[in-house]
Amino acid sequence: MVLPAKDNWPMAGPTDDTHFGFETVPLRDKQGRVDDVFHSVARRYDLMNDLMSGGLHRAWKDALVTAVNPPKGDMPFASLDLAGGTGDVALRIVAAGGAGTAVTVCDINADMLAVGAERAIQRGVNDRVTFEQGNAEELHYPDRSFDCVTIAFGVRNVPRIDRALAEAFRVLKHGGRFLCLEFSSVDVPGLDMLYELYSFQVIPRIGEAVAGDREAYRYLVESIRKFPKPKAFAQMIEQAGFRRVSFTPMTGGVVALHSGWRL
Ligand SMILES: C[S@@+](CC[C@H](N)C(=O)[O-])C[C@H]1O[C@@H](n2cnc3c(N)ncnc32)[C@H](O)[C@@H]1O
Repeated sequence: MVLPAKDNWPMAGPTDDTHFGFETVPLRDKQGRVDDVFHSVARRYDLMNDLMSGGLHRAWKDALVTAVNPPKGDMPFASLDLAGGTGDVALRIVAAGGAGTAVTVCDINADMLAVGAERAIQRGVNDRVTFEQGNAEELHYPDRSFDCVTIAFGVRNVPRIDRALAEAFRVLKHGGRFLCLEFSSVDVPGLDMLYELYSFQVIPRIGEAVAGDREAYRYLVESIRKFPKPKAFAQMIEQAGFRRVSFTPMTGGVVALHSGWRL
């Protein structure tokens, strides 16, 4: 199924529900709740990523950047990082690419973007990384404007995932690649139990101690459990129009790198 043109998308009805972590909430309320989480943790977000993942998020993001494969020279290469937050992925892409590589970070949360914009200035790459506030469900970029669209640990926070995928498809050029890094499902016996314990017992406590917000990190853990299994998510990517859709589990299925092409 391909979504109808954006102007014909239905509004959320009063009875449409979704989940916010393990809670059932009206669809129209989810974005506000997600925004509160990231306003609260923005300043501590990058430190928390290192602490929670033991630094592993760096390796997962490096795998994403390797797949993006930005050209080394002057050749123009425009990449869009959706739900790009503090610019961690964007900064890695410009560091890997040549002078022609430019990344637009689009995120709904101004606090996350502000942290990213400061980082880009500190690293002297603010001419190649642009931070723009926007909703992944309704992008303000023209059709076929980007060579690559990435989204890392963002898609599960978006209330209407099918719309975000349709928008990613719309703004990609023909021959462009969509790459999505997201938490997945652990399928290694033994590791799954350890991961469960760590997620529900340890992460919210680190969240409380470091970011001063236990609930925000409880939401993040619960939202991982509610996210579709990798095969189901790959089907959603296909339904948005992408071809040669595939995914690669990493770290025993803790995360998966999903890929699709606009052909
Ligand atoms: C877990 S963070 C990921 C940040 C970054 N991609 C990273 O990997 O470090 C999720 C991000 O999704 C953003 N987000 C949530 N809903 C969004 C939406 N509808 N459109 C754009 N960004 C959204 C949040 O503001 C937050 O910055």
